[in-house]
Amino acid sequence: MKITVIGAGYVGLVTAVCLADIGNTVICVEKSSATLDELNRGMSPIYEPSLQEMLQKNVDEERLIFTHIMEEGIKFSDILFVCVGTPESKVGKADMSQVEEVSRQIAENMDSYKLIIEKSTVPVNTHKLIKRTIKRYARKNLEFDIASNPEFLREGFAVHDFMNPDRIIVGVESKRAENQFRELYKPFTDIGINLIITKNAAAEIIKYASNSFLAIKISYINMLADLCERINVDINMVADGIGADKRIGRDFLNAGVGYGGSCLPKDIKAFINIAESYGVDFSLLKETEKINKNRINQFLEKIEDNLWSIKDKKIAVWGLSFKPDTDDIRETPSLDIIKRLVDAQAYLMLYDPKATDNFKKLVPENNQIKYLKDKYEALIDADALLIITEWKEFKEANLDRVKELMNIPLIIDGRNIFDPEVIKNKEFDYYSIGRDPVKSDNEEYFEYIIKKEDSNIENI
Ligand code: UDX
Repeated sequence: MKITVIGAGYVGLVTAVCLADIGNTVICVEKSSATLDELNRGMSPIYEPSLQEMLQKNVDEERLIFTHIMEEGIKFSDILFVCVGTPESKVGKADMSQVEEVSRQIAENMDSYKLIIEKSTVPVNTHKLIKRTIKRYARKNLEFDIASNPEFLREGFAVHDFMNPDRIIVGVESKRAENQFRELYKPFTDIGINLIITKNAAAEIIKYASNSFLAIKISYINMLADLCERINVDINMVADGIGADKRIGRDFLNAGVGYGGSCLPKDIKAFINIAESYGVDFSLLKETEKINKNRINQFLEKIEDNLWSIKDKKIAVWGLSFKPDTDDIRETPSLDIIKRLVDAQAYLMLYDPKATDNFKKLVPENNQIKYLKDKYEALIDADALLIITEWKEFKEANLDRVKELMNIPLIIDGRNIFDPEVIKNKEFDYYSIGRDPVKSDNEEYFEYIIKKEDSNIENI
């Protein structure tokens, strides 16, 4: 089939490349000339495993072309995927200006029937606003359909998730639109992937509902982790136990410093606002947000508890991206943690396998902040090591070398990447999230525990 994808950002580019790779001919419209130059050279402007190779292959085999001319894109196909950004506005709502702009351009350029598909995450009933805009600006009285086909791509797994979806959700309002989707997604339904045909409003809600449920799971396990720390139970054992229930599932039950990224935080806020605009109070999501925001404070308290004074201490930080296998730092927990440590006058040595360049743009080097190109270099004379993103190379670090390089063998693990038993044997002072603190024989630690137990007794 011939397909047009409007927007070559994270969602649009992955959609365009993957639809080309399953045999369609795809034109992708991108207004940023810098991005377009890279794409036309077969270079992917975003880092996603296997995206670069797939992009190059489909450009070489002429199934994928890029343009900045919207008219060319609109006239190329009757299937138009709208993949432009819906960033968070200042009041926590989704900024729909790019979607409206594209809807108007489609109206002004369409010369035949069009199936206009919302791929970006959009508030419920956006399909009605797109329809109104097209009717308002269309030059000719042409037939068209609006549909919703939300994406469920995780950063770092975007191509994998597109090519191996748990299900494909499609909201349609006509049999014609339904038939076009059945043809387009036949390569997936032929291998048994579930194509769920529903109404537009339902499809729009499903996207927000999925993301916010994932966030609820994360805040739930983080809430449990706080209890586990006080009763010396390993949160991962609890997560394994509840996650073994198929109705719950183990995924998204990893306790840590909380969720970040360009989707979960934004979608939760937008969903709360959408509900409130219909007079419904999403208090459960507000609590989810609150628990997540507080993870930063709790992690900093853990640092203070175990470092004592932070001032003038040399602290190594492993992990700046909001999750592994991405260079994306949007809403990353590391940003707040590092800003607070700088305010506390610590000296920071930062390392991340991919996200350093992006992070540097927000937090430039200065006399308190150094960026290192190697995780071990970041450890030299460090009084503590903080793990904020669970990159594979951190899990595989040589702990003997880590201990040798550090001034004090103190690790505060915000993503539970190490096994406490292994750490115990290496005689580290080790703290993680929701697991009994494992310490070597250390006067300060036992004084600290005695002080805490005394204060608990006083409170009884
Ligand atoms: C998410 C959704 O998973 C995806 O379906 C949607 O399309 C876009 O938003 P993404 O933001 O890329 O994807 O990352 P995800 O893997 O969901 O992780 C989001 C955040 O949650 C990360 O900061 C991650 O560290 C955190 N997380 C994830 C946890 O803290 N614990 C977990 O168990 C899982």
